[in-house]
Order: sequence, then C-alpha cells, then structure tokens
Amino acid sequence: MRLDVVTIFPEYLEPLGVSLVGKARAAGLLDVRVHDLRGWTRDRHHTVDDTPYGGGPGMVMKPEPWGEALDSVLGSGPSGAQEPPVLVVPTPSGRAFTQEVAHELAAKPWLIFTPARYEGIDRRVVDDYGERFDVRELSIGDYVLAGGEAPVLVMVEAIARLLPGVLGNAESHRDDSFAPGPMAGLLEGPVYTKPPEWRGRSVPEVLVSGHHGRIARWRRDEALRRTSGTRPDLIEGGDPAAFDKHDRAT
Ligand code: ADE
Repeated sequence: MRLDVVTIFPEYLEPLGVSLVGKARAAGLLDVRVHDLRGWTRDRHHTVDDTPYGGGPGMVMKPEPWGEALDSVLGSGPSGAQEPPVLVVPTPSGRAFTQEVAHELAAKPWLIFTPARYEGIDRRVVDDYGERFDVRELSIGDYVLAGGEAPVLVMVEAIARLLPGVLGNAESHRDDSFAPGPMAGLLEGPVYTKPPEWRGRSVPEVLVSGHHGRIARWRRDEALRRTSGTRPDLIEGGDPAAFDKHDRAT
C-alpha cells in the first residue's frame, strides 16, 4: 500500500518510521511518502494561509498550494489501470473514523492524507478533487485538535495493522474491540499473563483450565460485561434482549 501525506509539519510524521508502521515500511509492505506543502508555494515567505472571507478568527489554508501539491502527488502514481487513490482529509467536521472505515481504507492500494492546520483548507479544494476522486473527510473523535497530523498518525496505525503480513499473528486482530467476527460489536475484556499470582491476585481459574470452550465463553461474557458497563450504546441501546440475540448468533 502506498501512503502520501502532505503537511506543513513533515517532522510531525516521524513516528511513522517507528514500531509497527516503521517495520511494515522496512518489510516493503508500506510505501510512505511525506511531503512539505510549503514546497508548492511560490512566494518568498512560503505562505500557506490567509484571512477567511466573511471575517472571523483564525486563518484558512489557501487553495493554490494544496492544488499544486495534490496534482504533483497524483501525477507521481503508477501509470496504467490502477484503482485511483482515496484522498483522506482529517477534520473534526468529518464522518467518524471507525474500525469499519479502517477496514475499508486498508483494502485500497493508495491513500493520500491532507492534514490541515488553522481553521482548515479552503472548501474549493475538497469540492474540486471530490468531483474526480473518492474524498473522505474523517474525524477521529468529538474534540478539536490543533491540526490533522495527529489524526493521520492515528488513522495510519489503525489501517496499517490490518494489512496482510503486518501483524505477526494473523489472528491477533480477530478479537479486537470493534472487529468483525465472533465478538462483533463488543469491547475486548481483560487479559492476563504470567505470573499466575501477583500481589495476592490470581489469574481467573478458567484461563488456566485448558478448557477452550469454557475459556471462549468466559471471554465472551467478560466482553459483554465490559461493553455494557462502559459503552452500553454499542449493545443496541443496552437492551438485555440484545444479549440473548447475540448469544443465539454466536
Ligand atoms: N483536526 C482537528 N481535530 C480533528 C479531529 N478530531 N479529527 C480529525 N481531524 C482533526
């Protein structure tokens, strides 16, 4: 998968060289290219922002550098019949970036991220590219960050770990919170490792029983308990009947 990021803070994306994403790059599973938006400005001061039409606080990112940057990045793609890239625009006004969206994006060959600063990018940029490309405006949560770079790190990590070959164990995201499968819609329950006793606290007996059926059942029950405690909204409005329905479905 190819990932391009156009930003005024390329150094903010340095964590993409570390840990899971860094290893995926080293293994040739991810081709990450970070670009400095100011490289596509034409004035002495490398200006990327201006005052908003209609007045108001803050600054808006100018459309021209974005247009030139995106044209250039788009033009650097492979020639021939490849699926066109998806443009991902992080914004608190976007649709929610969920595990489902992560799976959708993980199936694409090429993503271009456009993290903004200030009050955002001149609307005409999304409108223009939206006519020719799949443009996704996505929010990582109901809070406002100072820019889209941290959301890009979040989204890239969520997407990269879904790519074949990136996680050591192909099963390791099967039981993830939010993953499709036997625990669909449930948050992951508690986990334990050695030693069997720590500060007088023992690992639940069932986990050392070696009984796979009982262990699976216990994990499902704990996932249900945790989900109804912290995110009852995920269990169809917290309706107890939904638990039975879930039982029948699994
Ligand atoms: N930019 C600023 N806040 C954001 C958020 N919550 N999600 C995505 N992009 C953002």
